Amino acid sequence: MARPRGARRLAVAAAGLILLTACTPPPPGLPDSDPPDPTRTVLGPQPPVECAPVVDTEASFDPGAPGLCDSYYPQAGNGGYDVEDYHLDLTYDPATQTLRGVATITATATANLRTFNLDYYGPDIESVRVDDQSAATEYSGGELVVTPAEPIEAGTRFTIVARYGGKPRGYPGASGPSTGFLVTDDGAIALGQPQSAAAWFPVNDHPRDKATYTIAISVPSNLAALSNGVLESRREGPMGFTTWTWRESSPMAPYLATMVVGNYRVVTGTHDGRPVVTAVHTSLPTSVDAELARTTEVIDYLQTVFGPYPFDALGGIVVNAPLGYALETQARPVYDQSFFNVDQGGASWVIAHELAHQWYGDSVSIDDWREIWLNEGFATYAEWLWNEHSGTQRSGGATVQATFDTWYRIFSDNERLWRVPPGDPGADDLFHQAVYIRGAMTLHALRRTVGDEAFFRILPEWASRQKDTTGTTMEFIALAEEISGQELDQLFHDWLYSPKRPPRP
Ligand code: TRP
Ligand code: ZN
Repeated sequence: MARPRGARRLAVAAAGLILLTACTPPPPGLPDSDPPDPTRTVLGPQPPVECAPVVDTEASFDPGAPGLCDSYYPQAGNGGYDVEDYHLDLTYDPATQTLRGVATITATATANLRTFNLDYYGPDIESVRVDDQSAATEYSGGELVVTPAEPIEAGTRFTIVARYGGKPRGYPGASGPSTGFLVTDDGAIALGQPQSAAAWFPVNDHPRDKATYTIAISVPSNLAALSNGVLESRREGPMGFTTWTWRESSPMAPYLATMVVGNYRVVTGTHDGRPVVTAVHTSLPTSVDAELARTTEVIDYLQTVFGPYPFDALGGIVVNAPLGYALETQARPVYDQSFFNVDQGGASWVIAHELAHQWYGDSVSIDDWREIWLNEGFATYAEWLWNEHSGTQRSGGATVQATFDTWYRIFSDNERLWRVPPGDPGADDLFHQAVYIRGAMTLHALRRTVGDEAFFRILPEWASRQKDTTGTTMEFIALAEEISGQELDQLFHDWLYSPKRPPRP
């Protein structure tokens, strides 16, 4: 089949992701004839990175790589092993603002390892043991290098136990002021994207290494300690502390793990047999609880378009700290209160956005931060669908088509929205509105091209086929072509990779 030029570029981009060992600069993803945008900082060659996740020698034992060659965050994650489970035993004391932790990490070596790295920006490490033997550690710049007493053979499962404690430090890799570990008046919030987990536990911090989690948090008994998944137990312990134990049994990307401690009104219930836990900070009016309770109604609607809800628990947490964000933390998004006090048809649109991420972002995760549109474009499109379904009046329009038309008209030819390609926005523009709005417009352009019948088969099929793993833009395009029977490379090229306004679909 003859493929337009954009298609070849996409194919090259995909090859770049598969050949991880070389860590060559990512292809720009733009046709040769398009002039480079001087405001872009990442389209050019990336600085070379020492990065070889697959160790090439069979006989020798080498250090695991300090990064996974992500296009935007080459040092994120580590090579040479794959984590299955994190068991975090944490104690947070707001009186001293200290976090103590014992992280038990079960992993399998994917290479012969003499040393391996964990990403870490948390309180001081006291000790690390590997398979019950004391291990040597070295720390620099967010990388905890562990030398186990015995080298680890490829294919071997091993257990790391790291003990740490003290005041959580700042998170230098943070993209926003409120990412990482935030101390609040009455507790703390661990939250953030693209990286945040390393602020509170040693981790293989990349969405490509998903794992299950047990998160047990001990806090003074008058406070709540909220996290992901199912609340397995809440037990009073010594010294007036209570331990809240949470279990996320579906594989989770590290940045989707959260810990929220403070004075919260916690409401528990069930929905379709799944436990629901919602929590609202006690300083906020009870109208917030009523709005957050729409979570189950939104889930019911989203299931009609995306297929079955992918996790075994649900809920949401509204905090009073000025995050400026909501985040799709797995099974239990965290919302800034500001979404709940504006009278613009309520907060159900942001609930729809974060819950849509449970399918797109959390259950199906991105394999490379460059492909963030697969999260944000989908979640924004879900907002538009929800607004049309529920009659929620929000900027854009009453229907999805009207919303698309509004954005297409409002953004004139030379707006940055058309110059930032959502398929490769650059690290500095990871959360640019091109990723959200133009990303959602990409899906609408796809819908216009393949028709409603095919489009509404593509969305749930993407969620079910890639469930609990990662998915790439190439795989999404292949699925859309498979279901529609159409050649779609030009469409995706125009909408995801071109630095100019695509033709109206
Ligand atoms: N992914 C979040 C959303 O779209 C937004 C977000 C971007 C965010 N960067 C963040 C949230 C940093 C918390 C911290 O809903
Ligand atoms: Zn989002």
